[in-house]
Amino acid sequence: MNIESIDFRSLDTAPATSSTGCLIVGLFASRPLEEQRWAAEIDAASAGLLTQLAADGELPTSVGKTLMILKPAGLAAARLMIVGLGKPERFDAATYARAARGAGKALRQCRATDAVCLLPQLELAGHSLQWKTLQAALALDHGDYVYSATRTADPAAAPATATVSFPDGAGVEDALRQAGPIAIGIRRCRLLGDLPPNICNPEYLTETARDLAREIDDLEVEVLDEQQMDELGMRSLLAVARGSANRPRLVRLRWRGGPSGQAPTALVGKGVTFDTGGISIKPRELMEQMKFDMCGAATTLGVLEAVARLKLPINVDGVIAAVENMPDGLAYRPGDVIRTMSGKTVEVHNTDAEGRMVLADALTWTTQHSKPEVMVDIATLTGACVVALGHHASAVMSHDDELAGEILAAGVESTDRAWRLPLWQDYQEQLDTPFADMKNVGGMPAGSITAGCFLSRFTEGQRWAHLDIAGSAWRWGKPESASGRPVGMLVQWLMTRASR
Ligand code: BES
Ligand code: MN
Ligand code: ZN
Repeated sequence: MNIESIDFRSLDTAPATSSTGCLIVGLFASRPLEEQRWAAEIDAASAGLLTQLAADGELPTSVGKTLMILKPAGLAAARLMIVGLGKPERFDAATYARAARGAGKALRQCRATDAVCLLPQLELAGHSLQWKTLQAALALDHGDYVYSATRTADPAAAPATATVSFPDGAGVEDALRQAGPIAIGIRRCRLLGDLPPNICNPEYLTETARDLAREIDDLEVEVLDEQQMDELGMRSLLAVARGSANRPRLVRLRWRGGPSGQAPTALVGKGVTFDTGGISIKPRELMEQMKFDMCGAATTLGVLEAVARLKLPINVDGVIAAVENMPDGLAYRPGDVIRTMSGKTVEVHNTDAEGRMVLADALTWTTQHSKPEVMVDIATLTGACVVALGHHASAVMSHDDELAGEILAAGVESTDRAWRLPLWQDYQEQLDTPFADMKNVGGMPAGSITAGCFLSRFTEGQRWAHLDIAGSAWRWGKPESASGRPVGMLVQWLMTRASR
């Protein structure tokens, strides 16, 4: 499936009075107009429109809420969109991004196909024009994405946005060069997450990787089938796959933008294309949401696509472990003891703790075959992570403080935030069993951490971090949908690494 982002441009002429389908401006309802950027120009050109709206109490007060004015008299723009910014004293990077996302949603719902966005001109302490432009572009693109792959097209639906222009200035060209590739990576991740599990199965993920490698120069793909994995002794990954008619794949995308010989940064994504729980079957309520259990793999593909389109001068490997977890006469069962590729044995206590079984072998394989400088796995691993952090943060776990710090910083910079959980030795004994080197569940206490502890046993001697994205990768509620996270955070992390 071909994916395009909005076309982002820069604009060097009188932005407030330019002719466009939609002029987007952010305003604080509670701050005098004469103290706000662009308000005076727009107010003057429109014979006091903003003054009137402020006097009538019509300016949006909450963050990201919008007021759309059609054919504003005196302005060349066909529409004026006023975006609420909330309270001036609470305005920060996260609020800025939230406001821009609100603008994106409103832009998608109106009939404009082009826009001029003045949001980056807002003052925001500690953030450059480049940062504000990139974040606004990504937020507008986020709003522009609408899932359509398996729906009948509605001829009355509002059109997508073709182009958005931002006022020129220092760093703006750089921001706009970055925005398209990152936006496409995020869209890729969202689409794969949103696609139904009868379409997006292990083979589909594999074909997506192959398509990317075909389309993008210097991006290479390698696919291991079941027999090759069997020969390598990947019994843990294969155990999970055994109950499904959709056969498993291990896929590696390789981007070599850095010096040859430079050890790559490796990403390893959980690609469970549907998680029924297996023999430890999940309750029927909300089981359909387990199509999102491949969002770690979708993130990996999205990041590799963005990195390759950005041509980052760094070597990156993206590995995806693509399997489906189904109950069946051949399925693995509670009580089974399985020898992983690492040689360590695992007693299965719950076939629904399948992500760690799959990742155990994928992490061993990546350590051996990519010999990465640093390795990060990304997985919708535990429901406990949603309980702990909700939908606002990815969880980071690592023994390496510097690595954890880099990831947390990238989360702040990209407004795709993460929060650290400990991987203390104290938790490890929850995995003890008399019948194997470990069991695959650690009981109720600290479920996300014991899952991280399990993975840590397959990354010994390797610089490594684990991201649990069970909460951040998709939003529950109406309608549930893939968020494209944490593509933004990981691309930011890699851009920072590449610039060192
Ligand atoms: N894919 C799920 C994790 C999940 C559950 C993500 C709910 C988002 C929402 C994972 O494979 C799983 O089932 N984990 C179990 C682990 C348990 C059996 C130790 C869980 O979280 O219940
Ligand atoms: Mn599961
Ligand atoms: Zn799962």
